[in-house]
Amino acid sequence: MLTTSSAPFESIPVRRLLRSPSDLEHYGRDWTRRFVPSPSAVALPESVAEVQALVRWANQTGAPLVPSGGRTGLSGGAVAANGEVVVSLESMRSILSFDAADRLLTVQAGITTQAVQDAARERDLIYPVDFASRGSSQIGGNVATNAGGIKVLRYGLTRNWVAGLKVVTGSGELLDLNRGLVKNATGYDLRHLFVGSEGTLGVIVEVALRLAEPPPQQQVMVLALPRLDALTELLDRLRRRLVLSAFEFFSDKALAHVVRAGGRRPFEAPAPWYVLAEFDADQEAALSAFDEALADGLVNDGVLGQSDAQAQELWRLREGITESLSHLRPYKNDIAVRVGMLPTFLTAADGFFAREYPEFEVVWFGHIGDGNLHISVIHPDAMSDEAFTASCERVTHRLGALLSEFGGSISAEHGVGLLKKDYLHYSRSSPEIELMRAMKRVFDPAGVLNPGKVF
Ligand code: MLT
Ligand code: ZN
Repeated sequence: MLTTSSAPFESIPVRRLLRSPSDLEHYGRDWTRRFVPSPSAVALPESVAEVQALVRWANQTGAPLVPSGGRTGLSGGAVAANGEVVVSLESMRSILSFDAADRLLTVQAGITTQAVQDAARERDLIYPVDFASRGSSQIGGNVATNAGGIKVLRYGLTRNWVAGLKVVTGSGELLDLNRGLVKNATGYDLRHLFVGSEGTLGVIVEVALRLAEPPPQQQVMVLALPRLDALTELLDRLRRRLVLSAFEFFSDKALAHVVRAGGRRPFEAPAPWYVLAEFDADQEAALSAFDEALADGLVNDGVLGQSDAQAQELWRLREGITESLSHLRPYKNDIAVRVGMLPTFLTAADGFFAREYPEFEVVWFGHIGDGNLHISVIHPDAMSDEAFTASCERVTHRLGALLSEFGGSISAEHGVGLLKKDYLHYSRSSPEIELMRAMKRVFDPAGVLNPGKVF
């Protein structure tokens, strides 16, 4: 492969190319903040033909490309730290069509998640995949990472909503996959290979998204829990009585950071753990589930949002966590086990984190309703970056081993990127990883797309 500094930028086949130091820094990083951005250029293609030309140019020159969405990722999948050319899809952000009969919204990959959600609502439908970074994240990046978020419990991950994809492969071919069909039993469904491929197999240029019927009026409740092991029992209880859209949890430590950043405590007396549940509004069922959980000692307190504004305020307690921690440069674990494994796993993980990080602040939160925990270790002020990262990496190897005992995942929804590739083998077998490498060679024979990511 040629070094990028020798790649002939004058011949790069895009109209818009950025090379100023501030642009290189801006487009070279994602939300991990752990890697020093160092791309050699930023290409902003404006058409599928330009993306194809760019990929073909990369094949001819050997210049590595980093496909880039809103760069809100948390695993370094969109980081360009080695002289790569960033391919930002942000100029390709149009809604291309809406098909009411099929409830299909076809968009260019650079459109934000929020714009897709708004477009769905304007058509009296919803795009139900949702997370706090909705305003900046782009649909192409959501597909490339199979983004999850806060409604997975009810609606599943991005994959469930991708009805068609147009992708430029690593050799520059344009594939038009599945074309919005519901049924299509014609062999391997290549569309799903690109979902979660983190820019290593192709550049996603267009997405046909299935939209859903809006749910009935939703209600939000935050509950205070006295013990970690009450979480799964409470999930089970609420699920029997209510139609849940979300079941999120956070610790008092997480809440303290949100409060410091301007959030309001929901209860006077602190509790060690909190749950936020969103469900199809049914005040009576919610109150009786709450009374029962209170009587059985699963909760100590609760608050039910009485208006949209109150519901939003309650959601901010959960959604504000990542932002409230970001200045502390936490080391993030994004792990998952099956929901049925949660009771034993939570006990094991509680002991594990207390043992492994006796002197660090460890902040728990996440999407407990689908088995996904975010456990962020706070960087102590007095510790160097190197020492902090080294000690977290040592512990993450042991965490990987613990997760493999539970059949869990070392990256539930943030992807592998650069941050988790050394731990991939705890969640995927050697034959699986070999097959993934073989697929990479098929779709990107010259290895120009996102080199060094995932593997
Ligand atoms: C979230 O659910 O808030 C993010 O995925 C998690 C994180 O910042 O670790
Ligand atoms: Zn999350």
